[in-house]
Amino acid sequence: MNHHLLLIIHLICASIWVGGHLLLVFGHLPKALKEKNQNIILDYERKYEPVGMTSLVLLVTTGIMMAYKYGVSIDYWFQFATPIEKVVSTKLLLLFLTVLFALSAQFRVLPKLKTDSSKLPEMTFHILSVTLIGVVMLILGSFVRFGGL
Ligand code: HEM
Repeated sequence: MNHHLLLIIHLICASIWVGGHLLLVFGHLPKALKEKNQNIILDYERKYEPVGMTSLVLLVTTGIMMAYKYGVSIDYWFQFATPIEKVVSTKLLLLFLTVLFALSAQFRVLPKLKTDSSKLPEMTFHILSVTLIGVVMLILGSFVRFGGL
């Protein structure tokens, strides 16, 4: 697939992933914490999850396809030897961290949060971490057009 088309899909998905998390952090999370009402977060997550997960899958797919077009194939990952490979490897590590947070939220926090608002601080930590990682991944991506890290 054409690199420009991959980049357009990557950017739309980055907008959805990062924008969706920022909306949760600034638009819904403060109210949920103030009212100690976890349903505000649970309702948003339910609606956002299908579109959010689809955009994350497409981010990874298009990101890896673009990395290959830059000559950064799997044989070079995690060597931290060349500027663009450094960006790709760092993004892959952050992606792994995002997946760990998502699994922890899904299997450890969310089941209890449904009935117990005392889990709100732990959920807040997960949300803030994933949002911050998303913003860092966006900033890292912007380095590629300047030659990498
Ligand atoms: C939350 C996940 C991610 C976000 C928010 C994100 C965001 C971005 C953004 C904003 C750009 C800037 C494009 C530009 O300057 O025009 C970019 C570029 C790029 N990203 Fe990602 N990205 C994510 C995940 C990934 C992953 C998992 C990979 C693959 C390992 C990847 C590989 C790339 C590459 C190779 C570019 C350079 C494209 C180019 O300028 O030609 N990204 N990303």
